[in-house]
Amino acid sequence: MHHEFIVFAGTANPALAQAVARELGVRLGDCSVERFPDGEISVRLLESVRGKQVFVVQPTSPPVNDNLVELLAFADVCRRSSAGQLTAVVPYFGYARADKRNRRREPITASMVAGLMQTAGVDHVVAVDLHTEQIEGFFAIPVDTLSAVPILCSDLRDRLPRDVVVVSPDAGRVRLATEYAQRLDAELAVLHKRRDSGSETTVTHLVGEVDGRPCLIVDDMISTGGTLVQSVHALRDAGARDLYVSATHGLLLGNARERLAAAGVREVLLSDTVPCGPCREPPVRVASIARLLAAAIARFAVDGSIHDLA
Ligand code: R5P
Repeated sequence: MHHEFIVFAGTANPALAQAVARELGVRLGDCSVERFPDGEISVRLLESVRGKQVFVVQPTSPPVNDNLVELLAFADVCRRSSAGQLTAVVPYFGYARADKRNRRREPITASMVAGLMQTAGVDHVVAVDLHTEQIEGFFAIPVDTLSAVPILCSDLRDRLPRDVVVVSPDAGRVRLATEYAQRLDAELAVLHKRRDSGSETTVTHLVGEVDGRPCLIVDDMISTGGTLVQSVHALRDAGARDLYVSATHGLLLGNARERLAAAGVREVLLSDTVPCGPCREPPVRVASIARLLAAAIARFAVDGSIHDLA
């Protein structure tokens, strides 16, 4: 069955939302988002959504709390405006790393965020390369996850040296690195990292052969760049030569770019789940997921399967 659908752009990544609309051959829905002097966010829909299938493209990237509340406000207004169904297209899911209690007396904030989205009126979530798959379990509504890895790998395939080794920066990314290695027909190495604080990590072990080899370090996200810089140092100590990086979510906070440049990373490849400004050193290339999101939205609009997209 075909549903009339409409795509709105939140303010977190308007360029991606615009590119998705272009791929779909539709215009973005008319809305206004204002930030009041006290920091409050005001969302208003400037056209009817009654009975329609609504998609709101809004990664909950930094400023995470503002972008999250904006998404919740979109959900609330859609519910109050009698939208048929609201799909939150959240290419980057903030708080995804808070998916378990590492110590006593800690919240599971990812679970709380899932609850907030549902309470606000979200009916369906679309995410890209979620930090951990179990986050889906925090929702009682459908969650469809897509992956940017096939897109990133097709960009990397002809650009990397033949003998490249794909490196997982920690045990948690082994599955991701294995997928890259299979797609790139490359060998795999694994680092083991200990997290000392929110921004400090130490690499303690390396499994795999990297001596004299170019390496591609892969991760789901680059936040401060601390994990990657530690990985680069460990790989260099083990004799690796040219170092490349690929990640789905390039938050690149603070001086992350400078840290990666100082570490001698040759090139960084990111997707556009979050906005990423230009960078000359190290060169940052961006592969867009707009076509993937547009294809998924087009399928949802006709209740079609996304099996071959995910
Ligand atoms: C950790 O489990 C994640 O996959 C990333 O490795 C990490 O969050 C990246 O953060 P940062 O760039 O600050 O080290």
